[in-house]
Amino acid sequence: MSGGLLAGGIAVLDFGGQYSHLICRRVRGLGVYSGLLPYSTTLPELKDSGVAGVILSGGPASVYSPSAPHPDPAIFGGSIPVLGICYGYQLLVEAHGGTVKKADGREYGKSKLTITDSSNLFENLGRNELVCWMSHTDSATTLPSGMNVLGSSEHSPYAAIASADGRQFGVQFHPEVVHTESGDRILANFVFGVCGAKRNWSISDFLQRTFDNLKGLDGRVLCAVSGGVDSSVTAVLLSRALGRDVECVFVDTGLLRENEAGDVSRFLTSEMKIPVKVIDSSGLFLEQLKGVSDPEEKRKIIGRLFAGVFKSESDQSGPFRYLAQGTLYPDVIESGRSSAPASVIKTHHNVGGLPKDLSLDVVEPLKDLYKDEVRVLGSLLGMPRKLLRRHPFPGPGLAVRIVGEVTPEKLRICRRASAIVEGVLVDDGFYDDLWQAFAFVGDDKVTGVLGDERRLGYQVTVKIVESVDAMTADWFRVPYPTLERISSRITNEVEGVVGVAYSVSTKPPATIEPQ
Ligand code: XMP
Repeated sequence: MSGGLLAGGIAVLDFGGQYSHLICRRVRGLGVYSGLLPYSTTLPELKDSGVAGVILSGGPASVYSPSAPHPDPAIFGGSIPVLGICYGYQLLVEAHGGTVKKADGREYGKSKLTITDSSNLFENLGRNELVCWMSHTDSATTLPSGMNVLGSSEHSPYAAIASADGRQFGVQFHPEVVHTESGDRILANFVFGVCGAKRNWSISDFLQRTFDNLKGLDGRVLCAVSGGVDSSVTAVLLSRALGRDVECVFVDTGLLRENEAGDVSRFLTSEMKIPVKVIDSSGLFLEQLKGVSDPEEKRKIIGRLFAGVFKSESDQSGPFRYLAQGTLYPDVIESGRSSAPASVIKTHHNVGGLPKDLSLDVVEPLKDLYKDEVRVLGSLLGMPRKLLRRHPFPGPGLAVRIVGEVTPEKLRICRRASAIVEGVLVDDGFYDDLWQAFAFVGDDKVTGVLGDERRLGYQVTVKIVESVDAMTADWFRVPYPTLERISSRITNEVEGVVGVAYSVSTKPPATIEPQ
């Protein structure tokens, strides 16, 4: 666990809730470091890391189910401040002898919370009624003895509770979700008022600390730049800290977005004064992907090829001691490196696979940051908004946006149609608030009419999603005029396409990328 950063901060124990990361981000937004730890983290471990308090996240289980995840019971012993949210609240109720049962109906969405005790958690809210966000099927049916009710909603008579000593709290609703009014204030009351945490987290302090740490590196660094925000910020950070000891390499896989290779190398070289070596391996990648339809097979091939390119670069321009990667905090958690329970649905990796036999030490200066924090860091480093607001792009690139075999024709269609989707969203002012937006293409052909002629052509699917961390995603309710412009521009401008569909799938059950 990242004990150093957690000292004086807030640990969020992860019970698998969709908002677990969001709780961390909200606490960090208050200027206090917060990290996500496995739910099984023990009280002694928490104390060793010096946390000021603990938040128990929500989660999909029922506390009474035999397989339900439970924290170390000593956490409820009163020696450390605790806030339980949703499932975390139900754990708190159960641990103190209350009962949790399946309710008659699910309480989902906005509810009215009536506050009956505005001390501690609800201090300084300035009102006694709040809209709050609920998402639960189980409810507390008896209140543990020694607990006080702070507020109730129509379906949850004990929607907010506190222990008599004012050190443990539980809320059935989600203060971390924007739909909860004064959610930040409630979290701040817990973090500062109850836990006594001090502001210890700012991106400018982080930048200074990271510079100091990076300056301690002794040896040359190979930095893989992918064109995305994370690797670009990593490249700028390292180059500023270490100067010529960093070699930035950009691999053109032939699977990139429109103009990406040129734009990225121009931006880094001319605007940021960081020399980038562009290695055009597109021929090799496209050759090796011929005839391959299975997405995981594509990922493996791409990973292997990336590794080969880095290996030969290292042989030619080395020796290098380090390999820099733009890994982010959610990647660390999702890849299970934090030992949190996480199932791997797709083999994710940053650049598509790393050379194992290079024996380089990995440097990941962004591994404690969320994407929005990386964007702030980038702007502190003087990077332009145009680059920092770019949507994430998967390492295997358009290969996972082409269903079936990657052919030059499908690549052209996918690339151009995606550029149109992004362009229209920028023009209409939606782009910055979206997680990802693109068009994908498979082998489906539909009948179209051109002049008097009937003609078979490709059908592309436009996908525009909103998400906070890519763990879950919702399709964007795109206004019809914008959708219409996207559709007509694609069929008018992309040769060979006669049909456009819009994906209305959420994640889960779908994933964001079609493959
Ligand atoms: P899915 O498709 O799993 O994607 O919902 C979640 C996020 O991860 C990105 N993604 C990848 N990134 N290598 C990567 O570096 C991959 O193989 C990969 N697959 C998906 C995806 O773009 C989304 O932001």
